[in-house]
Amino acid sequence: MKFNAKTLNPKTHRTACIIAGVYSDGHSNNSLSSSAAKINEASNGMISEIIKSGDMKGKAGQTLMLRKVSGIKADRVLLVGCGEKDKLDTAGYFKIIRSAFAALKQVEAKDATCCLPEIAVTKRDYPWRVQQAVRVAGETYYKFDALKSGKKTKSIMATITMAAATKAEMTKGVIAAKQGEAIINGMHLSRDLANLPGNYCTPTYIADQGKELAKKFPSIKATVLSETAMEKLGMGSLLSVSRGSAEPAKLLVLKYEGLKKSAKNQKPYVLVGKGVTFDSGGISLKPGGGMDEMKYDMCGAASVIGTIAAIAEMKLPINLNVIVPTVENMPGSKATKPGDIVTSMSGQTIEVLNTDAEGRLILCDALTYAERFKPEAVIDVATLTGACVVALGKVPTGLISNDDGLADDLLAAGETSHDRAWRMPLWEDYQSLLDSNFADIANIGGRDGGMITAGCFLSRFTKKLTWAHLDIAGTAWHSGKSKGATGRPVSMLVQYLMDRV
Ligand code: BES
Ligand code: MN
Ligand code: ZN
Repeated sequence: MKFNAKTLNPKTHRTACIIAGVYSDGHSNNSLSSSAAKINEASNGMISEIIKSGDMKGKAGQTLMLRKVSGIKADRVLLVGCGEKDKLDTAGYFKIIRSAFAALKQVEAKDATCCLPEIAVTKRDYPWRVQQAVRVAGETYYKFDALKSGKKTKSIMATITMAAATKAEMTKGVIAAKQGEAIINGMHLSRDLANLPGNYCTPTYIADQGKELAKKFPSIKATVLSETAMEKLGMGSLLSVSRGSAEPAKLLVLKYEGLKKSAKNQKPYVLVGKGVTFDSGGISLKPGGGMDEMKYDMCGAASVIGTIAAIAEMKLPINLNVIVPTVENMPGSKATKPGDIVTSMSGQTIEVLNTDAEGRLILCDALTYAERFKPEAVIDVATLTGACVVALGKVPTGLISNDDGLADDLLAAGETSHDRAWRMPLWEDYQSLLDSNFADIANIGGRDGGMITAGCFLSRFTKKLTWAHLDIAGTAWHSGKSKGATGRPVSMLVQYLMDRV
């Protein structure tokens, strides 16, 4: 699917479907957006008539698909309710574009023209409205059927054009559409990796995907550390997690240099993604119900890989490193046992009281490894705790940070991309919950405040870093009938990095 932006006349423009907004401001011409007004005029008042009939009330997210509207060249008109004029906020805009593309997907159209970026949104400009519309369109058409046999039905949708009011808007819109497309490609890569089950997506597979990405983008260099290399570095905590698995652990490192030679020594941003390709819990085995969803325990890895792919496609002028510790957490005769004490790369010893709290055990060594890059900031992304889902539900990603500036920047990027996070405290008061009688630190802090104590654990390994932790346990995938990876928080991370240039 391709995207672009163009100035056009809704009356004469040829397209399989033109998408135009309608406000809820009553039965007058007030309720027509600028392009809806043009379609109305060309069709001798057909849109006004529909509004009068009550079939389209303009409520945000309401849609009405029309065919063969007279006086225009488009095959279909999709009317989309936009709520009260000039009252639309970021969340409202996402609501209208999501319902618009969901309705568009229902019909067999090979192209479409979307006029919704003309709708005013509080605090958001035209390029933002284009970029988000492109992203939502891409998200809507995503499908994962790689492992279904038989005939695959592919959508015929080929091009979606975003309408621009002026030539100047068009120039900006083309750039914004390209950026949106890069984000979509990154999200698709992330979702594909995440949706692949554990028997396909092993640590070795993730490492190989990293190498593939480096082949696709010459600006990315890939390195893969083997278990032997990790042993030499003293990553005893990371390696303890995969002891029970036949699959060898890997540490994938991707380096993107987007800066010209003169600025090459600018400090990199570092993203660390939890890559547990299957989390059975290990000897502290999880209960059977819904255990299949633990194939998603590598969504942190998938999201940071998707992010660096998007950044490379955009050719963003920054330096970015991605570190992916990847393992399979299984019970086995060599598996780590509750009570075992392991030594991390930082030198701190850890009492493994629960082998199911494995994410922090691989992240702590990856975070220590991140120090060597002298990073500007380090952000780890992980499906880390069920407690995060209990605390925040499935709406925001959980955020913990040792730096207010970094935390605020991430929260702001989450608002802009509507891929939001919510910050939890990292107060000293929680730290003693991790006390161990036999080692420097225990890997669990009890039931209460589970997301925070997991963050406290990581904070013991990030004292030298400007660091933030994103717990995506509630946001990385959907359960139930529409089970599947969401691609979050790729758009938040890309926005954060775009905001840095
Ligand atoms: N991968 C899980 C966290 C998880 C659970 C994410 C459910 C999404 C849904 C993690 O490795 C884990 O098992 N965490 C434990 C920690 C506990 C043992 C302290 C948890 O949350 O129960
Ligand atoms: Mn676990
Ligand atoms: Zn896990």
